[in-house]
Amino acid sequence: MFTLEGHTAIVTGGASGIGLATVEMLAKLGANVVVADVNTDAGNAVAQRLKEAGGQAIFVSTDVSSSYDVEALVNQAVQAFGSLEILMHFAGIGLEQHALDTTRENWDRIIGINLTGSFLMMQAAGREMVKRGYGRIVAMSSMAGVRGGTGRTAYGASKGGVAAMMRVMAVEWAKSGVTVNALSPGGIETALVKKMHDDETRRAYLAGIPMDRYGTPEEVAAAAVCLALPQSAYITGVNLPVDGGFDAAGVIKDS
Ligand SMILES: NC(=O)c1ccc[n+]([C@@H]2O[C@H](COP(=O)([O-])OP(=O)(O)OC[C@H]3O[C@@H](n4cnc5c(N)ncnc54)[C@H](O)[C@@H]3O)[C@@H](O)[C@H]2O)c1
Repeated sequence: MFTLEGHTAIVTGGASGIGLATVEMLAKLGANVVVADVNTDAGNAVAQRLKEAGGQAIFVSTDVSSSYDVEALVNQAVQAFGSLEILMHFAGIGLEQHALDTTRENWDRIIGINLTGSFLMMQAAGREMVKRGYGRIVAMSSMAGVRGGTGRTAYGASKGGVAAMMRVMAVEWAKSGVTVNALSPGGIETALVKKMHDDETRRAYLAGIPMDRYGTPEEVAAAAVCLALPQSAYITGVNLPVDGGFDAAGVIKDS
């Protein structure tokens, strides 16, 4: 019943972590996959691997904070496969820095890639989808954009901004057959988290997660793919936690 045969999906950040797990899941469901990333070597290798396994895939080297790259990416996806049904916009970077230490340079870098990049990507894909009257956009917010964790001034602001923008686009495009949703993962075991979470952060985080573990990239990919199915037509404007119960929890006792 659940297939994405004939659907074309752009996955930004598709060379690593959550994006990579999503690329693999989309390919298994039969989608044509456009892997987009700044990491050219890894992105090319992913697309090559999918093709060798009999899938339809291309890699497009893309910096999502560049309007030029983003326009070129959407054009190449449509040229290669004839249409664009799905955007999984997962490219992003992390930063752990307290409010008083956050430099203007770091603020601009995080906002430029995570928030402005999301605007450019969602607008460019949305334009194509609204024109054709169908689309599924899944953006990447974060629990850091919902809750006030320490060290997340710039990162949390960028992710909270993504959720706000997602809601506006969901409402504006609601009559056009285009759904727009976001995911808010908690701690997910990826390269980004290895850099951002030291032992102290891990201990503090685990104390607030009812499932008492970090998530896997595949568990986030499953949520993303669910929102991208044609059957998920009545879900829009949702910022879905994928967090082992972190957002739901209050005081957690063992007994
Ligand atoms: N891992 C987590 O715990 C977690 C939690 C909440 C949200 N997120 C978000 O999920 C997304 C994916 O994170 P991940 O953990 O898989 O990280 P990751 O570092 O494994 O993957 C991120 C990918 O984005 C690419 N990228 C970075 N900047 C780019 C740019 N300017 N243009 C194009 N590609 C770029 C990287 O090359 C990389 O392949 C990010 O937006 C991140 O903020 C992650």
